[in-house]
Amino acid sequence: MGVKIVETALRDGHQSLFATRMTTDEALLAIDELDKAGYYALEVWGGATFDTCMRFLNEDPWERLRKIRAKVKNTKLQMLFRGQNILGYRHYSDDVVDKFVQKSLENGIDIIRVFDALNDIRNLKCAVDATKKYGGHCQIALSYTTSPVHTVDYYVELAKKIETMGADSLCIKDMAGVMLPQDAFELVTRLKQNTKLPIDLHSHCTGGMMDMTYLKAIEAGVDIIDCAISPLSGGTSQPATEAFQYVLAGTIHDPQLNLEMLDKAAVKLGTVRDKYLANGLLNPKAMSPDPRVLKFQLPGGMLSNLMSQLKDQGAMNRYEEVLREVPKVRKDMGYPPLVTPLSQMVGTQAVMNVMTGERYKLVPNEIKEYLHGLYGQSPAPVDEVIRKKIIGDDLVITHRPADDLAPEFEGLKAKYKDLARSDEDVLSLALFEAVALKYLTNKYHPAPAVETVEFNVLIGGK
Ligand code: CO
Repeated sequence: MGVKIVETALRDGHQSLFATRMTTDEALLAIDELDKAGYYALEVWGGATFDTCMRFLNEDPWERLRKIRAKVKNTKLQMLFRGQNILGYRHYSDDVVDKFVQKSLENGIDIIRVFDALNDIRNLKCAVDATKKYGGHCQIALSYTTSPVHTVDYYVELAKKIETMGADSLCIKDMAGVMLPQDAFELVTRLKQNTKLPIDLHSHCTGGMMDMTYLKAIEAGVDIIDCAISPLSGGTSQPATEAFQYVLAGTIHDPQLNLEMLDKAAVKLGTVRDKYLANGLLNPKAMSPDPRVLKFQLPGGMLSNLMSQLKDQGAMNRYEEVLREVPKVRKDMGYPPLVTPLSQMVGTQAVMNVMTGERYKLVPNEIKEYLHGLYGQSPAPVDEVIRKKIIGDDLVITHRPADDLAPEFEGLKAKYKDLARSDEDVLSLALFEAVALKYLTNKYHPAPAVETVEFNVLIGGK
């Protein structure tokens, strides 16, 4: 059996390169070719695609999934699911998680990749149980990062727990693209020795060395790799699908993809890339290596966020100072992996520590909640002196955060009985209430067309 390939162009590819703005029509452009190419799965949904559909594209994410499913006959469809956060930014109640999993599978998803930013597996349990209950393939991802506590032994122990939880496969999710080739070889080798689960490697080319890492992982026996077709590959996205087909052809790892189909799909999706390059949403910088990711061990998105925060405050001269502060804040917080939302929280705290001239004088609310235990358990203990400085003697919860959440679904269904026309609509409202309210109101009760031209002229419209 050769290595299997998951095609990420329709989810992570455009999320990483041009802010998740690919439309449903663009996603469907080469869907027949992708379906016939012989992939193990197409990653098409979840992550930021759900929010972006409604917020920026005026599209229904559920309709996107159904349209893709209607075209894809031979290939599994995969989504990314952030544990108890689902696709949002807070913890949702168990009944919403359960219903979301059920409806994702009903609308066409086969494989749900679920992860928790802190690797607190209690935050995965509800999604895992629901995926199994409704007959989906449950892949659990390890959030990969580097720190004194994130050793190979740590990941092996985590993988054993994940296998016991009932996962069907395991993913090493290196969201920052910092996994070095030799580390991948060692980690995959040890995981293969300690679990029976198929192992999938997911990473990003940001640092410029990810093809080498994938190849070492393949030598160590990794079962599945996440790649993006050439026009949507490289830079902050995944390694190129076609390259692995050419490199591995004729070896025992031959992915056996149909290159003719890949060529056709690449030509079509190349036009999509060109559109976003032309309109500026795809910054050419995102397409070339950024070795700072390896130097600072921080995700590329976080580096650009820090830069724009400092630019806004006219303090770009403090950039190096902030970069030195980030690992200190991370250590104080017990080495959380720097993935959404932790990357933003740690980054913002580092900026505040530098700009105020006093560490933890100003603290964002999310950091306070984190210190109260509301995100789950940190990988290493939090610095207690700093916790006390920030939240005093407040109660810190040690149970699963969602245990404190009352069921939400039926309440929302009643609240929006005049607007929501399906359980899918209610779920959209449950996840992104304000955004979905605006989107669904506009969809079902469009405002009459109003002549706005003259008004725009009067206010000197921009
Ligand atoms: Co990714």
